Amino acid sequence: MDNTISGFSKLSKSEKIDWLLNTYFTDQDSARTLVQQYWNSDDKLQKLHDEFIENTITNYYLPLGVAPNFLINDTLYAIPMAIEESSVVAAASKAAKFWLERGGFKAKVISTEKIGQVHFIYKGDIAKLQAFFKEVKSKLIEDTAFITKNMERRGGGILDIELRNKTEDLTNYYQLHATFETLDAMGANFINSCLEQFAVSFKTEALQFEGFTEDEKNITIVMSILSNYVPECLVRAEVSCDIEDLKSKDIPNPQQFAQKFKQAVSIAEIEPYRAVTHNKGIMNGIDAVVLATGNDFRAVEAGVHAYAAKDGKYSSLTHCSIDNGVFKFWIEIPLALGTVGGLTSLHPLVKFAMEMLQKPNAKDLMQIVAVAGLAQNFGAVKSLTTTGIQEGHMKMHLMNILNQFEATEVEKVKLVEHFKTHTVTHSAVVDAIEALRK
Ligand code: MEV
Repeated sequence: MDNTISGFSKLSKSEKIDWLLNTYFTDQDSARTLVQQYWNSDDKLQKLHDEFIENTITNYYLPLGVAPNFLINDTLYAIPMAIEESSVVAAASKAAKFWLERGGFKAKVISTEKIGQVHFIYKGDIAKLQAFFKEVKSKLIEDTAFITKNMERRGGGILDIELRNKTEDLTNYYQLHATFETLDAMGANFINSCLEQFAVSFKTEALQFEGFTEDEKNITIVMSILSNYVPECLVRAEVSCDIEDLKSKDIPNPQQFAQKFKQAVSIAEIEPYRAVTHNKGIMNGIDAVVLATGNDFRAVEAGVHAYAAKDGKYSSLTHCSIDNGVFKFWIEIPLALGTVGGLTSLHPLVKFAMEMLQKPNAKDLMQIVAVAGLAQNFGAVKSLTTTGIQEGHMKMHLMNILNQFEATEVEKVKLVEHFKTHTVTHSAVVDAIEALRK
C-alpha cells in the first residue's frame, strides 16, 4: 500500500490524526482516545506546545523529578531532572546527600567562547585570499552591526574571525572561523545570523576585490553554521575529601573503596568500550537537567562526546586522584547553555525549573549541569565497584514491572516490602504477583 501523502503539514490537527489512524491503526478508537488523553485541557497551553514544532498531534510526557540537597559552591540547590530512566534521580539525590556531608561540590566556569564557521571553496592564489581577508575582516564585523547591537550592549558579541586554510584536508576548502561571546543565551540564532551575514558580505566583497582574477572572485559559500563543538566553553566541577571521611554505611572500608573507585575511573580513561558507558552514565545526569531547563541536549551530547575524543581516543570525562590521603574526583566538560531565549522563556515548566534553580545565569547553569553529571557518575561508579549496579537498578525498576502488570496500590505495598529482602528479577516479580493473586 502506498502511504505517501502530500500537503500533510497543511491539514488541521484533527485531519492529521484522522489520516494517521486510517492509514496505520487497526483499533482506531483506542488510538484516538490515547492521543486525546495526552492533550492538555487548557487550550492555550496546548496551543503553545502544538506550535513548538510542526505536525504536532499530542504531547509526549517525561517525568520531571527533583534531586535535592546539592551543595554547589556553598549554595544549596534542588535540581530539576526530566528523564525516564528509573534510577537516575535516586542516584543523583543519594550522591548529593553524600557530598553534602563532605563539603559539597565546587564548580568553576573556565571559559565561555562559542564557535561558528563559514565553509567556502576558493580556487586561486592563497596569498591573494589572505590579503583579501585582511582587507575585508572589519567590514564583515561592521555589516553584522544590526544583529550584534543588543548583544554588544550587554557585553557580548563577535570576538574574532580567522581565515583558516583547510586545503591539506580537502581541495580548495577554507573557513571563516569565528568566535563569539553570547552571555546568557545559548546563542545559536545569534551566531548563525552573524555567519550568514559574514557569508553574504564576504561573497559580495570578493566580487569587487581588485586583487583577484575573474575566476578567483568566484568564491563558493558551501554553508554557514555554528559548531556544537565548544572546547573553549568549559566548566569544571569537583568533589574531594580525606579518604577516611568517605566512610559511611555503604563504604565500610574507605581506603579500599577509594583505590577501587580510582581504578574504575582509570579504566574508563584508557578503554573506550568502558569510557562510552561511563560517559553515558554522566550524560544521564547532564541530559536530564539540560532537558528540564529547556536546553538543546543533542547539541550538548555531540559537543561533550567530541570533547571526550579530543586527544585522538575516546576517553573518560571524569578523573580521580588520590594524593596525601585526599580523594578527589572531577569532571571537565564543554557546555553551551542558555538561560534566556529559546524555550527558556516559552515553556512553563522550564520557567518553573529555572525558578527552582534560583534563576541561574548561563555560567551558574553550566556549573549545576556539570555537577549533576559528576554526581551521577559518582553514584554509578560507587555502585559498580561495591554492590554492582543491578541491585539498585532492579529495585527502581520494580515499579515499572508492577505497573506493567497493573498491580493495585495494595499489591504494590506488599510486593515492595517483599522485595526489600529478595532479589528483584523480572521473573521473580512475575512469580510474586501470581502468588499474591492466587
Ligand atoms: C546506566 O544508565 C548507566 C551506567 O551504565 C553508567 C556506568 O556504567 O557507569 C550505570
